[in-house]
Amino acid sequence: MSNSSRYTGLIDKYRDHLPVHDDTRIISLGEGNTPLIRLSNVPRMIGKDVDIYVKYEGLNPTGSFKDRGMTMAVTKAVEEGSKAIICASTGNTSAAAAAYAARAGITAFVLIPEGKIAMGKLAQTMMYGAVILQIRGNFDEGMQLVKEVAAEAPVTIVNSINPYRLQGQKTAAFEIVEELGAAPDYHCLPVGNAGNITAHWMGYSESHKDGVSNNLPKMVGYQAAGAAPFMRGKMVDDPETIATAIRIGHPQSWDKAWNVQKESGGWFDELQDSEILEAQKLLAQSEGVFCEPASAASLGGAIRDVKSGKIPEGSKIVCTLTGNGLKDPDTAISQCSNASMSTIDATLDEVKKSILDNLS
Ligand code: F0G
Repeated sequence: MSNSSRYTGLIDKYRDHLPVHDDTRIISLGEGNTPLIRLSNVPRMIGKDVDIYVKYEGLNPTGSFKDRGMTMAVTKAVEEGSKAIICASTGNTSAAAAAYAARAGITAFVLIPEGKIAMGKLAQTMMYGAVILQIRGNFDEGMQLVKEVAAEAPVTIVNSINPYRLQGQKTAAFEIVEELGAAPDYHCLPVGNAGNITAHWMGYSESHKDGVSNNLPKMVGYQAAGAAPFMRGKMVDDPETIATAIRIGHPQSWDKAWNVQKESGGWFDELQDSEILEAQKLLAQSEGVFCEPASAASLGGAIRDVKSGKIPEGSKIVCTLTGNGLKDPDTAISQCSNASMSTIDATLDEVKKSILDNLS
């Protein structure tokens, strides 16, 4: 029986564009192939004639876009004989590293900032069986330590400074071009280390060079105001934001991301935490799509730029929703509990009354 229609992950699908060989053992969990959802209510609510799509990367196997890079990084680490991988992480990279290491049968070491990663990410990383080192420090300090220890110990770094990570992540752009038949006019992403914006630009540029698309998007990166080195024009030593995924002050892909901005004609901007949370809630409550706070920075920024006219009417916009809302239940619940939940007696009268009250 033919298996040809079975989706077996992004390396299999895009192997001609990725650095793998015919006999490479591929470490995959079926990542990629995520939904590109066209928003119907948000454009109407903001009263502008724009076409907004969200690329829901939260539906990857570990719930974030990191799986795209991790399938490549771990596949290559195993091919090169590595028995252990290591990363610093604000949570999603650690979950992905832990899962793909489990799949490969190797060890994952992860450095995470104590008390500053979302609960779902911690649960995943523990469950997948990684060796977790909580550091009394932030992501940037963890990243520095990872670079230093990898020079002295037999471990492969799987942060986005590992070039295979960006190779895997560029496939998100391939999928978008395939689905839209062209690149969008604007592609908006949340920016932390700036690996993902760099990877998307690589993907769009390759599609363009190969003649698959005949246009290129403007790349727009949004940061949290408390962790916005691209807006300050320099590194930030004490980054702080509720969007813990992008609580990063020393982006590893600094030069690359500035090149992306210049080459694509895009820009960087920043959002207050309150704006990020507002966009997260708007997306959930008006479109039924639940992303984590950091991810909502892409949509929140895009909405602001559409409203101001910086992104003109008639534009086709893609916003990457980098991670699933379930990653951070605490932040979600703390935003919603009062408004949407009450406790009642288990009687027909009480239930009926609640329905009538809420519909009136
Ligand atoms: N959104 C989410 C949900 C993330 O987890 C990250 C990065 C980003 C956006 C930013 O992407 O770094 O490529 O600019 N998370 C990393 C981690 C740092 O450790 O999980 P970037």
